[in-house]
Amino acid sequence: MDEFIGAWTARHGATRDRLLPLLHAMQEEVGYIDDAWVPVIAKALNLSRADVHGVVTFYHDFRRVAPGRHVVKLCRAESCQARGGAGIEAAAAKLLGVAMGETRADGQVALEPVYCLGLCAIGPNALVDGRPVARIDAATLERIALEVAA
Ligand code: FES
Repeated sequence: MDEFIGAWTARHGATRDRLLPLLHAMQEEVGYIDDAWVPVIAKALNLSRADVHGVVTFYHDFRRVAPGRHVVKLCRAESCQARGGAGIEAAAAKLLGVAMGETRADGQVALEPVYCLGLCAIGPNALVDGRPVARIDAATLERIALEVAA
């Protein structure tokens, strides 16, 4: 990762304001931000480790462990919660065999929260490998479970 960070900062700059773009680029490249990379990022951008750690942990979009082969994101924002989101989340965790915020031990699927997909009127909603899925119910969850088993 040192090489990636070095090449990225050479091209895009190594000032403090480059932190978020660099973190997004790293997540795009490898899928997550490993805690071991925090000191390297801090040194490259002349920030403290605490600064970098604080940003990585503040934003829900930054993963800190390698993602599963499939990623199911369930909306936890207000409208989807009002439409049964908590029950859907519990059912999804049971069906997929993974707790919210974690990757299943076999690495096949990760279950993650997302906060509003802009589809509030047709919730509860999910993103399955980046594809929006609306009106999630028990039947939809069964289809998602089959899809991510592949
Ligand atoms: S609240 Fe879930 S899509 Fe907006």
